[in-house]
Amino acid sequence: MAANNTEFSDMLSDHHGDPHHGDAHATPNHSIARMREEAGALAPIDCERKRLIHREESVRQQSDAFRGIRTRLLEMAGESNFITLVVAVSPRSGGSFVTRNLAAAFAFDEAKTSLLMDCNLRYPNQHKALGIEPRTGGLIDFLEHPSRGIASIMYHTGVPRLRLIPAGKSRENSGEYFSSFRMRAVLDSLRCRYPDRYLFLDGPPVKGSPDARILADLADFVVIVAGYGRDTPASINQAVANFDPAKLAGVVFNQSP
Ligand SMILES: Nc1ncnc2c1ncn2[C@@H]1O[C@H](COP(=O)(O)OP(=O)(O)OP(=O)(O)O)[C@@H](O)[C@H]1O
Ligand SMILES: [Mg+2]
Repeated sequence: MAANNTEFSDMLSDHHGDPHHGDAHATPNHSIARMREEAGALAPIDCERKRLIHREESVRQQSDAFRGIRTRLLEMAGESNFITLVVAVSPRSGGSFVTRNLAAAFAFDEAKTSLLMDCNLRYPNQHKALGIEPRTGGLIDFLEHPSRGIASIMYHTGVPRLRLIPAGKSRENSGEYFSSFRMRAVLDSLRCRYPDRYLFLDGPPVKGSPDARILADLADFVVIVAGYGRDTPASINQAVANFDPAKLAGVVFNQSP
């Protein structure tokens, strides 16, 4: 059993497959890799098309809001890096929008890297939003075939220091994957490998599926997204009641266009 576990964590190694990772494990080649990544970075107009915050003044209000959530999470966490689950109260409230931008806000800090994981297995959309073709698969493919290595499912996003793990093949029985030993091992390994890496799980809405609650067991913090003018106070309270109050970072009221 122990041997199997060791073997599995070796397969999780993403060190070689992710040479652009900006972190404290800097090598002499590191700054060159960083320069290459910055050169391929998305222009503000491309970010706006992908509904992503950027550093220009035009989206200042929005990026300040996401920086505010970042500050709150960092205050809650203290010293160590952590895993944040973001879930919407009901479908189409902007859960994925908030997860993506929160992950981007962490990546804006040059001392941090950010990993966005699409955990909405029924309706995955982060790869579409970011314009990424998941040619070598995603989370489900890795959970089913860990020997392929985690590096094969980590994709560059065009935002420096932000990587995406797409959902992969869509699946109905997602709860089984999320409650598996493998899923926990993947997250632990991804979080522990680099102390400057922050993980963001884009979960399915709370209403209508137990997945959000199952994923919360794997996360250090939970951010709930309520659709401004869409979700009623009663439904927001009901959603909040699903989670351990100690993990609850707050409710974001999102006004989608
Ligand atoms: N505040 C916002 N500003 C601009 N666009 C937004 C905002 N919130 C959401 N959107 C857009 O609205 C659409 C739906 O949002 P999103 O996919 O984030 O919702 P969701 O809650 O994740 O939905 P699902 O139930 O499918 O998971 C997307 O195209 C997203 O980019
Ligand atoms: Mg979503």
